[in-house]
Amino acid sequence: MEKNFKRTLITTALPYANGPVHIGHLAGVYVPADIYARYLRLKGEEVIMIGGSDEHGVPITIKAKAEGITPQDVVDRYHKIIKDSFEEFGITFDIYSRTSSEIHKKTASEFFRKLYEKGEFIEKTSEQYYDEQADQFLADRYITGTCPHCGNEKAYGDQCEACGTSLNATDLINPKSAITGNVPVLRETKHWYLPLDKYEPFLRKWILEEHKEWKPNVYGQCKSWLDMGLQPRAVSRDLDWGVPVPVDGADGKVLYVWFDAPIGYISNTIELLPDSWEKWWKSEDTRLVHFIGKDNIVFHCIVFPTMLKADGSYILPDNVPANEFLNLEGDKISTSRNWAVWLHEYLKDFPGKQDVLRYVLTANAPETKDNDFTWKDFQARNNNELVAILGNFVNRAMVLTFKYFEGKVPAAGEFTEYDKQTIADFENVKTEVERYLDQYRFRDALKEAMNLARIGNKYLADTEPWKLAKTDMARVSTIMNISLQIVANLGIAFEPFLPFAAKKMRDFVALHDFNWEELGRTNLLKDGDVLAQPTLLFEKIEDSEIEAQVQKLLDTKKANELKSYKPAEVKEDTSFDDFMKMDIRVGTVLECTKVPKADKLLQFKIDDGMGGRTIVSGIAKYYKPEDLVGKQVCFIANFPTRKLKGIESQGMILSAEDADGRLVVVSPSDLVKAGCQVG
Ligand code: 2FM
Ligand code: ZN
Repeated sequence: MEKNFKRTLITTALPYANGPVHIGHLAGVYVPADIYARYLRLKGEEVIMIGGSDEHGVPITIKAKAEGITPQDVVDRYHKIIKDSFEEFGITFDIYSRTSSEIHKKTASEFFRKLYEKGEFIEKTSEQYYDEQADQFLADRYITGTCPHCGNEKAYGDQCEACGTSLNATDLINPKSAITGNVPVLRETKHWYLPLDKYEPFLRKWILEEHKEWKPNVYGQCKSWLDMGLQPRAVSRDLDWGVPVPVDGADGKVLYVWFDAPIGYISNTIELLPDSWEKWWKSEDTRLVHFIGKDNIVFHCIVFPTMLKADGSYILPDNVPANEFLNLEGDKISTSRNWAVWLHEYLKDFPGKQDVLRYVLTANAPETKDNDFTWKDFQARNNNELVAILGNFVNRAMVLTFKYFEGKVPAAGEFTEYDKQTIADFENVKTEVERYLDQYRFRDALKEAMNLARIGNKYLADTEPWKLAKTDMARVSTIMNISLQIVANLGIAFEPFLPFAAKKMRDFVALHDFNWEELGRTNLLKDGDVLAQPTLLFEKIEDSEIEAQVQKLLDTKKANELKSYKPAEVKEDTSFDDFMKMDIRVGTVLECTKVPKADKLLQFKIDDGMGGRTIVSGIAKYYKPEDLVGKQVCFIANFPTRKLKGIESQGMILSAEDADGRLVVVSPSDLVKAGCQVG
């Protein structure tokens, strides 16, 4: 059923303020939401976009404890970093606030209170782990133990990160408190539960029958949750960080972070519009759209709507265009493993290139399936698309106008059939971009906008004004007029996608008043309008810049491997006599060469203080032979002589095997006489 909406309320998932934001956040939520908001604003629609930081929850308290600071310190630090990053990327929130604000606490508290008074909650007592020494209940994340599925000894009470299984804290073998290391005991505690099961028939009808148009990934996930059957969900926790549960006898209890966070959308709207917020949340002619990532689907399609429905005075979302995940160079983005491209770091490494990232993340958005971000693709899209197509066309149109018409918009004469066809093509772009944006298909919409630049390039290439300039300036005048009109159109079409470049394009052609309706027109610029001197819209990204980014990721990978490195078990005891049988000595490398036709082998001539010897060692993968000459190494002098590739090897060079399998030769820490014994 098509509804006649008067305004659109866009919400964007509130990121946890326990770390900075990365490209996955931008691609999944904030760039698409911003494109949509800018598009609607350009159309003159009434729209607000709400954002903010999610500042409650257990991980924030864990981080605070680990750093010896308060949770408020943690969220103050990251809220600022996150807010600044979004601003730099041109994400146009009407408000970006935070859930530790007083207004949020009040709003969330009153929301709970109303449901409580309406008798919407079930109160239930259950047994939960308690740390007697710390004198507190333990959140699932505060309990570690052995995973019953894979034996990982560092599994958390809610999940084993080694095998990915969701767990209950009571499933863990040998549970331990992460606070004191003690074995926790089970103790009874009371909590409030939202009876999702009671709302299941309503949810089934509302989603499965009335919202068949939702994206298949969203609809499918909701259907599978509903088909599994819903259970009551606890909406309170025993924790000292969050919004206190506002009823008697709830000391030491706060609202579950997933209960208060979505209410943050409401509190932030109240903060923005204290007198008119209700029109945005309680009026049927408001279209509510939640932009989120796929891990948030159940909360935005099932839990939050149930809360809103239970209250009874709120509207429900019209759509929840959730994205799938963006991976990075083939691996899942992970804050704890530092496997991410952090926005604040990108801004330092690629200053002024916000639009490049916006472009790449939209062109490659994980709209229907998980996608991969690679630096090679980033470079290719910048160099082959932004520079070679969009930047190139705009630059040519501007430069030619300066060359032939002193930087003023020349008049158009009569249009040829080819001109008319070109104009028809670019009029069509508006319809296509709109069609896709209205369906939240941002990648396709961007492709259509890029087509406008392609049309421009083709037009210039086909009409060749630089050749006609010798014979037919009237024709050149028409061609340049049409080309500049295309530049002006690009300045409108790209406003939602690449706001910085779009502004530059409009400034080039002095287009100051504009709106979406004008897209596709050939009269945006008047004859004689004065153009600004163009600068390059996009610059080529060099291989060296990409290699530096790839190297940064390789370093991260290496650091992670080292962190998770577990040394091999210690071998069975040896005897003193056996040890004494080994004759380990220091030698100086006199020569070192690759063994022909053997990838792994190096041949050494060693000064052993006893006339020298030859040793063959399998470390060719890790060293350049010339780097080893002059180095002192340890070797076993009484190792049985062996023939390797026809060479007699008289001993064995000792090396350590690093976490990644790399072999590193063992050397004395100071220069010693060749041939001296190690023991
Ligand atoms: O997944 C997350 O990052 C959550 N902080 C999202 C919350 S969205 C909303 F409910 F606030
Ligand atoms: Zn496991």
